[in-house]
Order: sequence, then C-alpha cells, then structure tokens
Amino acid sequence: METSEYSSIILDEVIPLGRNGKDYLHMFNLFGLDDKVSYIDCASGPSSFNAYMSSKDIQVVSIDPIYEKQREEIQRNIKISFDSLIDQIKQKQHLFKWDIYRSVEHLSEIRRKAMDDFLSDYENGKDEGRYVAGSLPHLNFANHSFDIALCSHFLFLYSDYYSLDFHIKSIMEMMRVAKECRIFPLYGLSGKESPYLRDVVKILRKEKYQTHICNVPYEFQKGANQCLIIRKKVKSI
Ligand SMILES: C[S@@+](CC[C@H](N)C(=O)[O-])C[C@H]1O[C@@H](n2cnc3c(N)ncnc32)[C@H](O)[C@@H]1O
Repeated sequence: METSEYSSIILDEVIPLGRNGKDYLHMFNLFGLDDKVSYIDCASGPSSFNAYMSSKDIQVVSIDPIYEKQREEIQRNIKISFDSLIDQIKQKQHLFKWDIYRSVEHLSEIRRKAMDDFLSDYENGKDEGRYVAGSLPHLNFANHSFDIALCSHFLFLYSDYYSLDFHIKSIMEMMRVAKECRIFPLYGLSGKESPYLRDVVKILRKEKYQTHICNVPYEFQKGANQCLIIRKKVKSI
C-alpha cells in the first residue's frame, strides 16, 4: 500500500489498533440492547470488544485478516503501529477532542490495556471460534447468522485506500449475514466526512435498505460523532 499524505494523520497501511468494549458501546450506541443480541465485529483487529462482551456471556464473532497470525506476531505488529501512531497524535493533538481521554498518556494507557485484554483472550477465543481470520468484502457465514454487524475504524476511515465499490460490497455482505449493520466513524483520516458517505447512503436506499445517521456519545477525532445504521426495509402490506 502506498503512503498517502493526509492533512491529519499519515498511515502507510490499515493499522492494527484496538479500542475497548466500552468504546464500542459508545461508538455504536449499544446501550439498552438485549443480552441475547448476537454480533459480528468486522475488521475488529486487536480490540477487546469480544473479550468484554464474552465475559458478559454475549455472543460476538470477530473477523480480521490478522487472526491468521500467532499471538506473538500480532503483539509485535501492534507495538510498531502503536508507537508510531501515538507519536503522530502527540504532534497533532489539536485534531482530537480530549475529554474521553484526558491526555495522550491517558489515551495510550487505555488503548494499551484494551490490546493487552485482547491478547490475553486471543488464543482461547480462537479455539472457541470467536476470532476468525477473514477479510471484507467476503464473510464466510450463512445468511442471517447474526443480529448486528459492526465495523469500527475501517470502512469510511480508510476511504483513500478502498473504493466506493469495496464499501458497497462490504456493507451488502454484512447485511447478508446480519439483520442490521452499524459503522463508525463516518470520517476519513483527513478529518472530514468520507467522500463516499453520501453515495453509499444513496445506493443503499435505492436497494432494499433503510439508512440512519445517528449522533453517538463518542467523539475523539473532532467532529466524528456519528454512526451509520443500516436495516432492511420493512415490506408494507
Ligand atoms: C484500525 S483497526 C480497527 C480495529 C477495531 N475495529 C477497533 O476499532 O478497535 C483496522 C483493522 O482493519 C483490518 N483490516 C484490513 N483490511 C481488512 C479487510 N479487507 N477486511 C477486514 N478487516 C480488514 C486490519 O487488520 C485492522 O486490524
């Protein structure tokens, strides 16, 4: 993957960096949902969402290409990406809102803990089929296997790397395996709304989907506090 210049954060590739279970509850506004709701978390990387939800007996299957690797290799890759990203955030603190995380040090501590929790859960979770190697836009699951498909910090965020067609195919695939799909954030790395968002909404609405852009109680990248929710249209009788 080529290096791209962004006005905000510069990344050579999609990096494996993980948020925690509580971040996910806020990013996707999952509060108040039934404990029986099942999730597929796409592009889940080293997030501790799966570990957090599994500890509460809530069903989550996480999908990411990095799950082909052994724990030690993932750990090494996380360290390289993490240190370089934290360095950039330090230089560009004005692009972020410092309330959920009070400082770069606080952010660093919380992210590190999330990734440690993921690493501790990884081998067990893999044996239990909770971490499955796979890549969008293909999901190796039967139709309607889950209630909700989540995608955090991959679609829209990496708009410079993936085409509109990739976004549509990925969302359709998530909607094939789940009844509903939620994506966060809707901004790219440039710190602006993804150039694909409006077209994605238009195309999905023309198909058989309802789309809702909802405000959520999570904002770290300034302005990125909305989640896209996609559901199948209810047939009128
Ligand atoms: C920034 S991380 C996000 C991790 C997690 N969702 C979170 O928010 O904490 C992006 C992840 O996308 C994964 N990824 C890259 N290409 C992918 C693809 N085609 N399908 C699914 N995941 C992919 C990377 O391996 C990486 O772990």
